[in-house]
Amino acid sequence: MNDDSKIAQPDSRRDFAKKFIAGLVSTLLSLIPLGAGVAVLLDPLRRRSSDTGAVRVASLEALPADGIPRKFPVLATRVDAWNKFSEVPIGAVYLRRTSDGQVQAFNVVCPHAGCYVDFLPERGRYLCPCHNSTFTVAGKIDDPSSPAARGLDTLEVQMRDKEIWVKFQNFQAGRAEKVAVA
Ligand code: FES
Repeated sequence: MNDDSKIAQPDSRRDFAKKFIAGLVSTLLSLIPLGAGVAVLLDPLRRRSSDTGAVRVASLEALPADGIPRKFPVLATRVDAWNKFSEVPIGAVYLRRTSDGQVQAFNVVCPHAGCYVDFLPERGRYLCPCHNSTFTVAGKIDDPSSPAARGLDTLEVQMRDKEIWVKFQNFQAGRAEKVAVA
């Protein structure tokens, strides 16, 4: 054995250590884009739908100040696991301007069993075509023999720069109390 082999041994260990560290750093760096890709893929699952907040329903101009309810569709953006749908109908509301200048909103769904109620201008009443519940223009039960156990469901209204926004919600049918559908 000559003396050169004894001298070369520490160098080869150093080379090995350098290569090992370089390989480790390279592997760690390659995991960063992979992690980002997984996060993007899973993002829709973590994102919540926007249909729980207030949605713009109409401009104040579109609602005459005569106290008569007008029906408006409620459109919102829906997001499922991987898709986003804009302006999807999620329900409808009756809006009316009250004598004190406020805007009142009702869900059009009958609280008895879920049919859509009609407003009859000639009678100044809402009528449900399914089992004939009637409601006053202010949404209260009109005929005590109506099968509905509560009046029409009021919805929170927010005015934003002469635009009418409504916090749209559905409520459980067939109950005297108003319980939001989760
Ligand atoms: S669903 Fe309206 S009265 Fe029955």
